[in-house]
Amino acid sequence: MTKLLYIETVGCQMNLLDSELVVASLRKQGYELTDTPGRADTILFNTCSVRQHAEDKIYSALGRLKNAKQRHPEKIIGVLGCMAQKDQRKIFERAPFVDLVVGPGQLHQIPRLLEEIAVERGPRLEVSLDRQAGRRDEIERSFESYDPDRDPEMRPTPYQAFVRIQIGCDKFCTYCIVPSVRGPEQGRDPAHIRAEARKLADEGCREITLLGQTVNSYRFRHGDGRVTRLSDLLAGLQEIPGLARLKFVTNYPKDMTDDLLAAVRELPKVSPYLHVPAQSGSNGVLRRMKRGYTVEDYREMFGRIRERVPGYAVTSDFIVGFCGETEEDFEQTVELVRECRFKNSFIFKYSERPGTKGAELFADDVPEETKRRRNNELLAIQNAISEEENQQFLGQTVEVLVEGPSKNSHRHYEEEGPILQLTGRTHCDRIVVFEGNRRQIGELLPVTIYDTAPHTLFGEVVTCEVGPQVYSLS
Ligand code: 5AD
Ligand code: SF4
Repeated sequence: MTKLLYIETVGCQMNLLDSELVVASLRKQGYELTDTPGRADTILFNTCSVRQHAEDKIYSALGRLKNAKQRHPEKIIGVLGCMAQKDQRKIFERAPFVDLVVGPGQLHQIPRLLEEIAVERGPRLEVSLDRQAGRRDEIERSFESYDPDRDPEMRPTPYQAFVRIQIGCDKFCTYCIVPSVRGPEQGRDPAHIRAEARKLADEGCREITLLGQTVNSYRFRHGDGRVTRLSDLLAGLQEIPGLARLKFVTNYPKDMTDDLLAAVRELPKVSPYLHVPAQSGSNGVLRRMKRGYTVEDYREMFGRIRERVPGYAVTSDFIVGFCGETEEDFEQTVELVRECRFKNSFIFKYSERPGTKGAELFADDVPEETKRRRNNELLAIQNAISEEENQQFLGQTVEVLVEGPSKNSHRHYEEEGPILQLTGRTHCDRIVVFEGNRRQIGELLPVTIYDTAPHTLFGEVVTCEVGPQVYSLS
């Protein structure tokens, strides 16, 4: 009999990928997806711990299931991912009706655990070792990269996929919980990465985004001592037929090496889009964050991107209101944003994470109101920059990988069939909205831009009269 699975995912791209893999493995056990939790036999939450807010949302969603579980005790409720690794048994204490808690390094156990629970009830907990709990190799082994079969239905489009190349993080920025919940940094074998990318390309995937917490720190040491770097990996993936685009996130500023920038410039499939979080523009704050670079180092790195990567688009993350951040520190962040003119920035209010060095060493002393004001101010400045930067595309023709109907797509009919509002992205990761038809989804199309907004370009597909090579590759 088919069993119905409901899965809710919060957090980063790693979590989206993990959920896809969990669903693929459970389909083999006869599960089918439902988007109605009320109908599901099994309800899973794939969770995030990076900010308090993300955890609060999960605990209140769990709270809302309490009655349903009383009425239907046979329903299985599971908590997966970073919050499972961080809170472990505490989840059973706060929500005693939860059946299953599984950390991100133990997801491969889920099919077996669900089978066991079906036979005999009782809470199951599978987490990896704490980072202080033993030798590095033991801890590494307790975090398993989980990359078996894929499930294209879980992806927004079958033409785009994430491929994990690295798990964990060794940077230990003082505000960040990731190194404790996702374990030590480990690069995946390039042969496995290439095989997975080839399989995805054979299934029709056009764009692959390589994932790692510090993706450009990727290194794999082979048995004979040879080392594969991210630039080497990209060169190998460039050769896979069918793939049109390669991206990689998230970059760590100190590891933006010249060989990688050369690969981005030289390899035509590699997008000139680089997400390199600066986090702050103040040296005092960067030091307390233990980011391992100064704002001068960041500027130097940005300068190299500007010089070496034509058509580059850089995006950043910023945390406002980190411990001890003064108005002057914040002004320095504003200055960096104005100077770098990022394509986009993700801005977060500092959220203290118990168990991090930041929580241990520094007081969370910036008032919430100040955090909110700085967040809004920085966002307004960034939005104005994004809008101005987008205006340079007016009248230009860009190459768009078509992803699917846009969110507000409405159909109308013309002679050649139903016309939809479609969305896709340029090589430098800018969103483009235009009219087209369903057959164009998954194709690379030349689109001429006639209007712009801070985060969107609006265009019209070029009907090729001169030949297909008339458009620029930005
Ligand atoms: N509080 C607020 N933002 C955080 N981030 C990571 N940890 C925290 C925290 N404790 C942000 C960083 C990171 C992004 C994924 O989340 O900017 O780059
Ligand atoms: Fe967290 Fe810093 Fe690692 Fe990024 S590099 S995951 S911010 S510890």
